[in-house]
Amino acid sequence: MIFNKSIIANYRFDVLIIGAGGSGMRASLQLAQEGLNVAILSKVFPTRSHTVAAQGGISASLGNMSKDNWHWHMFDTIKGSDYLGDQDAIEFMCKEAPKVVYELEHFGMPFDRNKNGTIYQRPFGGHSSNFGEKPIARACAVADRTGHALLHTLYQRNLHAKTNFFIEWMAIDLISDSEGDILGVVALEMETGNIMILESKITILATGGGGRIWAASTNAFINTGDGLGMAARAGLPLEDMEFWQFHPTGVAGAGVLITEGVRGEGGILINSNGERFMERYAPILKDLAPRDFVSRAMDQEIKEGRGCGPNKDHVMLDLRHINSETIINRLPSILEIGNKFANVNALKEPIPVIPTIHYQMGGIPTNIYGQVIIPNNDNNKIVNGLYAIGECACVSVHGANRLGTNSLLDLLVFGRSAGNHILSLELKKIHNKKLPINSIDIIIDRLSKLENNKGSESVQSVANDIRKTMQNYCGVFRTDKLMKNGYKKIMILDERRKYISFKDKSKIFNTARIEALELDNLIETAKATISSAISRKESRGAHAHNDFKNRDDINWLKHSIWYSNGNRIEFKPVNLKPLTVKTVHPKKRTF
Ligand code: FUM
Repeated sequence: MIFNKSIIANYRFDVLIIGAGGSGMRASLQLAQEGLNVAILSKVFPTRSHTVAAQGGISASLGNMSKDNWHWHMFDTIKGSDYLGDQDAIEFMCKEAPKVVYELEHFGMPFDRNKNGTIYQRPFGGHSSNFGEKPIARACAVADRTGHALLHTLYQRNLHAKTNFFIEWMAIDLISDSEGDILGVVALEMETGNIMILESKITILATGGGGRIWAASTNAFINTGDGLGMAARAGLPLEDMEFWQFHPTGVAGAGVLITEGVRGEGGILINSNGERFMERYAPILKDLAPRDFVSRAMDQEIKEGRGCGPNKDHVMLDLRHINSETIINRLPSILEIGNKFANVNALKEPIPVIPTIHYQMGGIPTNIYGQVIIPNNDNNKIVNGLYAIGECACVSVHGANRLGTNSLLDLLVFGRSAGNHILSLELKKIHNKKLPINSIDIIIDRLSKLENNKGSESVQSVANDIRKTMQNYCGVFRTDKLMKNGYKKIMILDERRKYISFKDKSKIFNTARIEALELDNLIETAKATISSAISRKESRGAHAHNDFKNRDDINWLKHSIWYSNGNRIEFKPVNLKPLTVKTVHPKKRTF
């Protein structure tokens, strides 16, 4: 086993965080500030984590532009989730929102400002005043670069707090003992190609989503579902993986995100007749209805022949009526993206857009403290030593459809909550558990097999076929037949994956090896998604099933729980009981 010789060092930490995005760096901050030995391991430089792509804002009911309160935010989030979100977790998130935003302000986040000095807020999809009356400005924004500003703010604070950073390292697998407790990870240092053991009293997965299982995606290339793969290989379940959000406005043909903030600032969607078609589908919120609603409306327009362009395969996002100063000040990146990726001057021409995969609502099941749980009827088992936060986790606040700007909020609220919970464990008083002999054998075995494989499959062709299959067989509209055919194809790809080999065996910055390791995570993410999608016999939120067109609250007000072993699916009921207020009962969704 060639890798045994390559294990250079064991590092030991109180807390090890995999992923340097918004959630990872929010959790690390308070831990490092309290003097714990904290490390963050990241495939990329922290400020290049995928949080950087978040454009439009962070939701919080600050009420800076008009009256607002967290009850309205909570109601919108539950309705937006198509009633699949757990109401205790949603209450917790919406109530905490103003606190985490003000904290960021005090950390030095350069929010846009109103004339009176308060934080500028813009309207966003699905956010309303007075339980659905009209759109409300709730998204706290830094122009259209909110994620970028957030990462820089948190990175600087973490440097000050003396968080250790392991940059351009890839976590390969979780190390566990016979009791199932998590004791750290085995990781690869890209610069040297060395394999390292990182032991920790607590490991936090903050690895983001797996949006690269799709052919057309707003996700960064690093979003290969690494945390999901690691959890699945450790025998842990994934929750609600059938729910993937299409963002209505990806640049047609390029997939790059155009923020919903454009519609928040007054932009409108038009079809080939120049008609503002959302007025027909959502008379109150119009272009600012939730994303599942808007994406399906766009698809309908295209299907009915009112698409734009020579192939009538997209619609247009029109900003021409907005005053140019607003666009230049509030949406500078959009001007640049429109120009570079669609060759249009958005001040004078509409931007061609198409619904594009953007966000994974499901993930590793957790409680509101970020502890990973194994759902078991009413009795959730806590996985000792393991937390998950951010997009790789499912707490579940987004249910079947996330509202825009609730993702940055999720990162901050649950990053902070995990940090607080870990502080309460008083880690300084306990020792790292001893690594059992043979505890990493299975991981080394996986690496050795990959290294010595002489098969004829290439990583790129298997990965591309996963993406094509997921897009074509499990996309916007789904049928039983389509998904079952897709499942067979994914299982064939799972077999093909076992025969991949790469020629370049060099150690230093060998991206071929990294991509091969990522492929194992992509396939787990794809299997979880298509198996869970087949199991859900209803349409809800982002899961639009053509054979079961309606939402079925009698039979399906429940979360899917997928296990990699045999692609087994179990279910657990949605928590309809908030912490302190009354249940929001499911109703037909109109906007
Ligand atoms: O449209 C956007 O700016 C995306 C925001 C989000 O996904 O929360």
